[in-house]
Amino acid sequence: MKEPFAAYVVTDGRVEGEVTTLRADQLPAGDVTIAVEYSSLNYKDGLAATGQGGIVRKYPHVPGIDAAGTVVESQATDIAVGDRVLVTGYDLGVGSFGGYAAYVRVPAAWVVKTPATLTTFEAMALGTAGFTAAMCLLAMEHNGVRPEQGPVLVTGATGGVGSVAVNILAQQGYTVSASTGKTNQYDYLRQLGASQILSREEVSLTGDRLRPLLQGTWAGAVDTVGGATMSYLLRTLNYGGSIALCGLVGGHDFAGTVIPFLLRGINLLGIDSVRCPMAYRQTIWQRLATDLKPRHLDQIAQVITLRDLPGAIASILQGQVKGRLLVTPQA
Ligand SMILES: NC(=O)c1ccc[n+]([C@@H]2O[C@H](COP(=O)([O-])OP(=O)(O)OC[C@H]3O[C@@H](n4cnc5c(N)ncnc54)[C@H](OP(=O)(O)O)[C@@H]3O)[C@@H](O)[C@H]2O)c1
Repeated sequence: MKEPFAAYVVTDGRVEGEVTTLRADQLPAGDVTIAVEYSSLNYKDGLAATGQGGIVRKYPHVPGIDAAGTVVESQATDIAVGDRVLVTGYDLGVGSFGGYAAYVRVPAAWVVKTPATLTTFEAMALGTAGFTAAMCLLAMEHNGVRPEQGPVLVTGATGGVGSVAVNILAQQGYTVSASTGKTNQYDYLRQLGASQILSREEVSLTGDRLRPLLQGTWAGAVDTVGGATMSYLLRTLNYGGSIALCGLVGGHDFAGTVIPFLLRGINLLGIDSVRCPMAYRQTIWQRLATDLKPRHLDQIAQVITLRDLPGAIASILQGQVKGRLLVTPQA
């Protein structure tokens, strides 16, 4: 390890972190130390880096729920120095120092070997967002959703989860509709594979439009928004359709009745990438490295440095980031 090394550290009571240096003995205990090549910026990182959502309880803190790079120290029998690895979820960047540093130290139980057909860049262009998008697809398919059953809607479509979901679903043969608040990004979504674009307002329901059922439209949905968008989705799913619910950028609460469940047999599928069991986690990464690998990752991902983080964090919290931002741990 080269010390001291660069890190983005958030101190209690400050909205903005600062780029500073750490030494190895300031990292948490763990079996595996990884030289980070890339981390990424997720919505949850925005919350964690600004003290919101009760995500971080102990300061000073290094955010970054994703990290990928090369092992430099290992006490684990099955992980060797020089292995290319990635970590997403668990307590990384939440209760434990995360990927916005040149090194992370983690329990071996969190470590996934990066599949040979994924570069480290690709692994983090996917990151928690891509992993979650794949979980959504697999959950819907497990519950019977198939391309021939009709269109699938991706909400918050220009975001990280949304962009990868649009791309993966289109590649798998689905007719993908995308809803977005960014009227200037319709071409981007079409390039990723969306065949229809809806405004955010069209897929939000509040007030007196809340009849128990509306015209059935969707065979499935990947919902990153929650709130009024969930209220819409529950009422517009086709018979037997499934919503993979993974996000809350539009709010926690939604309005619904039991009617669509009873009369249309719909499924509401909760998606959690953080504690996804290791065996299934490895299966998903293998799929992301092979048949589910998005073809447009270069269009989806951009690279920023630790110094760009304050501006990027403000943008993601305002819903303005398009696609995925990778973070290099350079100052
Ligand atoms: N369950 C899990 O394991 C898991 C894993 C990953 C992410 N998530 C959650 O999924 C959500 C998306 O994460 P992400 O990292 O993809 O975030 P992101 O990159 O910021 O994408 C979120 C997108 O949602 C839309 N949006 C933002 N504010 C909105 C609002 N007030 N109302 C409606 N739409 C809004 C925007 O897209 P448009 O402009 O295109 O509408 C935005 O780009 C977050 O809630 C995150 O916590 C959950």
